[in-house]
Amino acid sequence: MNAPPSGPTTGPAGPLAGRHIVLGVTGSIAAYKAVEVASRLVQGGAIVDVAMTRAATEFIAPLSFRSLTAREPYTDMFRPNGEFGEAHVELARRADLMLIAPASASMLARLAHGLADDFVSLTALATVAPVLVAPAMDAQMWEHAATQANRAMLEQRGVEFAGPASGRLASGRMGAGRLVEPTAIVDHVKARLGRERGDLAGRTVVVTAGGNREAIDPVRFIGNHSSGKQGYAVAEAARDRGAKVILISTAPLPAPVGVRVIPVSSHRELFAAVRETVLDADVLIMAAAVADYRPAQPFERKIKRGEAGDLTIELHQNEDIIASVSSPRLIKVAFAAETDDLLDNAARKLKAKGAQLMVANDVTAPDAGFAVDTNRVTILDDRGGADELPLLSKYDVGVRVLDRVAELLREAR
Ligand code: CTP
Repeated sequence: MNAPPSGPTTGPAGPLAGRHIVLGVTGSIAAYKAVEVASRLVQGGAIVDVAMTRAATEFIAPLSFRSLTAREPYTDMFRPNGEFGEAHVELARRADLMLIAPASASMLARLAHGLADDFVSLTALATVAPVLVAPAMDAQMWEHAATQANRAMLEQRGVEFAGPASGRLASGRMGAGRLVEPTAIVDHVKARLGRERGDLAGRTVVVTAGGNREAIDPVRFIGNHSSGKQGYAVAEAARDRGAKVILISTAPLPAPVGVRVIPVSSHRELFAAVRETVLDADVLIMAAAVADYRPAQPFERKIKRGEAGDLTIELHQNEDIIASVSSPRLIKVAFAAETDDLLDNAARKLKAKGAQLMVANDVTAPDAGFAVDTNRVTILDDRGGADELPLLSKYDVGVRVLDRVAELLREAR
């Protein structure tokens, strides 16, 4: 009998697990998207209490939230679910973060001026937890001087804004005012929670991702199969633990929320960006599949078929980036994608590159390596240790690598 295909093992508790989020929902046509936000927060393991303005209840039924969160939404200031006398104070005290999504123009005004005449603004005024708002309104309302003044006032007070995004609005016009997508809102929540309490808060982590393109002529290049997914997943995991993350990427993937992306293409550009950013970094994670060779002399014009008959391209060797950057405090993590003698090759490279950790993966395995969302790696360290991990999502591989990094950072203190 065939064994069932094995999926990735469940990862360690994620960044939302056990965190108490108060989700404030206000009156906007985008209120229905708050249902997906609540659902994603709950799936991530958060405890979600929903507070709604009366206008929000016109757009979406409290029952939707009750069903998803298994908790009674707070909708009426004068009848707060009967749990306790000062419901808003209790709710505000319990919150690890208050998220208001969608936040209408009127809600931004109430928050800016400290009004407390509905359950959402009342809780926001009573909480000391970080407040994150995701505005949604028509572009004219968002651009109005009053709204912009309210935004500036709130930002100055430490309220963080997720969006609004630009695009097609409910009015049919194009402009800024769209609620950012639920997945992005949840990423903002993770990033903000990470900065509050994450074990990498205050650290700078540089991550490289993707494969280089080395120009042969203006239209052709030498490249490799790296998708950049593992590097992006490490960057997101580092962000969720509070790090300031700089992602140097060759990959055409969307920039992760809260991560500074420096787009590069060739080895030369990658090297320059790494050299510059590691000066202030605590950690360098080289997940990029770096080109070892480049055409010695790229052609200035497109090579024409038949012009040269058979073609020989001379290649020059590129410098080893990770081996050539160092600083006393920099922790270096290398990746080794191998097709044979995985652990021997990885251990040899760990030494040669002066890295503290080496993440080795066999790219011939079908569920690991390029393009897929899972990976099966062994983490080697410079003391001879080898930790063989089960099949994990690339994000969870990032988490396990960062567990080791956090340990090294603690030891170095
Ligand atoms: N690396 C680097 N600079 C290079 C080549 C690789 O910084 N010029 C980094 C990669 O980002 C990775 C690690 O070194 O973290 C190992 O990369 P890999 O390509 O496996 O190693 P190489 O040194 O290129 O060895 P080989 O090609 O012989 O396997």
